Amino acid sequence: MDREFLFFNSASELSKTISSFEHSIIICDENIRHHCLQHLEFDHNIPVICISSGEKNKSLQSLEQIWDGLIRFKAGRHTMVFSMGGGVITDIGGLAASTFKRGIPFTHIPTTLMGMVDASHGGKTGINYKNYKNYIGTFVKPSNVYILPEFLKTLEPIHLYSGFAEMLKHGLIADVYYFNSLKQLDLKEVFVETERLVPFIEQSVKLKNIIVNKDLQDYGLRQILNFGHTFGHAFESFFINEHSAHGYFIAAGIVCESYVSLKRQMLSEDMFGEILETLRKHYKKLAIKPMDVQIITELMVMDKKNLQSGISCVLINGIGNAIYGNIISEDEVKEALNFYLSHA
Ligand SMILES: NC(=O)c1ccc[n+]([C@@H]2O[C@H](COP(=O)([O-])OP(=O)(O)OC[C@H]3O[C@@H](n4cnc5c(N)ncnc54)[C@H](O)[C@@H]3O)[C@@H](O)[C@H]2O)c1
Ligand SMILES: [Zn+2]
Repeated sequence: MDREFLFFNSASELSKTISSFEHSIIICDENIRHHCLQHLEFDHNIPVICISSGEKNKSLQSLEQIWDGLIRFKAGRHTMVFSMGGGVITDIGGLAASTFKRGIPFTHIPTTLMGMVDASHGGKTGINYKNYKNYIGTFVKPSNVYILPEFLKTLEPIHLYSGFAEMLKHGLIADVYYFNSLKQLDLKEVFVETERLVPFIEQSVKLKNIIVNKDLQDYGLRQILNFGHTFGHAFESFFINEHSAHGYFIAAGIVCESYVSLKRQMLSEDMFGEILETLRKHYKKLAIKPMDVQIITELMVMDKKNLQSGISCVLINGIGNAIYGNIISEDEVKEALNFYLSHA
């Protein structure tokens, strides 16, 4: 677990906890300032560093803007930096704090489902550099993660479904019972009654932490968290100009990687059918055409996680049991893509 992983029932409870720190600075973006920060009330003035929202601003320029703010607001080891936002803010805020004066304390306050179940846990911080995603970063865990589920009420549905795909992934790689309970959720209901998500967020965090604590720096086991991401990243690059979100590509990646697992007889027809049905229910199919198969395959060959010997992919040996480091052939990739475009 993170040193302190806490759920809050109200904005005032969270405000009180933030106020209790001797010297605090908040990092956020303009959407968080408008939708989340305005609900908090502090008993003294807390400086805010606000950067522009979105993946394209997870950049060196925004990092400099944050470092400048930390200098202006006299941050030091006595300071607690609160990075409050989605994965973009927690990644860049964690990087800014973990490098400023060789590292000052920081706490994540995730405001997206992706942030609550995934991005704010596990100690990866980072920015994109030129066209390279997450190439500059550190492995430093936050001092605390504070979660106020009601922040999810203003989040666009696209971002709720995006985070949910990572939750399904957690079940598929590590916990069949969790996957089964996620399958039964009525998302339209729980995305409104957000407090009902608490046990599910807790379980995702628990599963992620078990994996990360065995391999913080990502040399082995942690790679299982990339299930769905070998195909998923290629889809994300291919559809770079579409208005979508990461989890939608991961959902499609999960279908393809489950299909490869089926073909390798690691997954039964029944299990594969269950996975396919669950993903179909929540995620619209990506608009891939037969002529795109070659380009997507080439994108996968170029992916940074690939070894010289081929495309490395996480597969599942039954639901709840992932295996990393499988080298899959271009023919297997094409077969999975052809399955996806004709059946998924
Ligand atoms: N460090 C990790 O382990 C890890 C894991 C997964 C993802 N990530 C990173 O996370 C990023 C994606 O995170 P994300 O999906 O949270 O996207 P995001 O941070 O871009 O947030 C999505 C959008 O929602 C807005 N927003 C956030 N909270 C809101 C709220 N409560 N109400 C209204 N609007 C709100 C944001 O301003 C943004 O426009 C990627 O950069 C990815 O690399 C990191
Ligand atoms: Zn992901």
